Amino acid sequence: MDWGLQNRIAQIIKPTDNRALMLAVDHGYFLGPTEKLEVPRKAISPLLKHCDSLMLTRGVQRTSVNPKFPTPIVLRVSGGSSIIGADLSNEEITVSIKDAIRLNACALAMSIFVGSKYEKQTIVNLGKLVSEAEEFGIPVLAVTAVGKEIGQKDARYLSLACRIAAEQGAHIVKTYYCKNFEKVVESCPVPIIIAGGKKIPERDALELAYNSIKSGAVGVDMGRNIWQSDNPVPMIRAVRAIVHGNSNVNDAFTLYQKLCKEKPVKNSLVKQKIKNIQPKTKQYST
Ligand code: R5P
Repeated sequence: MDWGLQNRIAQIIKPTDNRALMLAVDHGYFLGPTEKLEVPRKAISPLLKHCDSLMLTRGVQRTSVNPKFPTPIVLRVSGGSSIIGADLSNEEITVSIKDAIRLNACALAMSIFVGSKYEKQTIVNLGKLVSEAEEFGIPVLAVTAVGKEIGQKDARYLSLACRIAAEQGAHIVKTYYCKNFEKVVESCPVPIIIAGGKKIPERDALELAYNSIKSGAVGVDMGRNIWQSDNPVPMIRAVRAIVHGNSNVNDAFTLYQKLCKEKPVKNSLVKQKIKNIQPKTKQYST
C-alpha cells in the first residue's frame, strides 16, 4: 500500500488502538436542513476537537469548518437525489478528484445501494472512484445500506452489501449494526465503521457503539445520536470513551451523566484558545 494511502487511513483509523471516531454531518446532502444541523457551524464547532475525523460535503466544509483546525476530512462525493425525489439510490459522483485534493480530503465517501434500482450505477461508480482516488493515494469509504429500505438490515443483506463494497476496492466500509454483526465483519476484508442511525436514547446509542466494537467494527461514524442529543459534547465524549477508552456501556453512560452536570469551562486561557479556533458555543472541560 502506498505511503500516502496508509498515512491517510492512519488519520482516520488511529494506529495506536486501530479504532476510529468519525463525526457524520453530511446529512444535508439529501435531507436538507436536518434537525439540529440547520446551522452546520453551530453543530460542528464544539464537537470538532472530540472526533478523529469529520464526514461532510464540500459545501459544509467550505462554509462551516475552520480550515485552521486540523481535523481530517472524509469528503462525501456522491449525491444527486433528495428525500422527496423519486429514488434515493439514483446517485452519481458529484465532486471531482481535483476539488477533493484542493480541500485536502483525507478520504472520499460515497454510497452504494445494493439491491436497489440503481445498484449497478452506484457499484460501478465506486469501482471508478477507487481507481481514480488510488492514483493520488486517497482512500475511499463506501457507505452501504442507507436509504428508505432500511428495514433490510439483517446480517445476510449487510454482509452482501459490505462485501461487494470491499470487492470493488473500498478501503473502509460504513454500514449499520445488526444482530449477528460478527458475520458481517468476518466476511468483509476491510475495516467496518458503523453509522448511528436515527436518534435513540443516549444509553441505547452507547450500547450500539459498544456492541458494534465488540463485534469487530473499528469504530463509529455517528451523527444524529451525537448532535441531536440535548448534550452533544458529553455524548461524543462518552462515545469516545467506548471507542478509544475501552469503556463499557455503564461507565460511558455514567461519564455522560457526569459531563452533563458539569459547568462550562471558566478558565480564561482555555476559553481564549477555544475562541481562537471556534465560534462562541457552550464548552466543556476535557
Ligand atoms: C447517510 O448517508 C450519511 O452518510 C450519514 O453520515 C450516516 O447515516 C451516519 O449518520 P447517522 O449516525 O446520523 O446515521
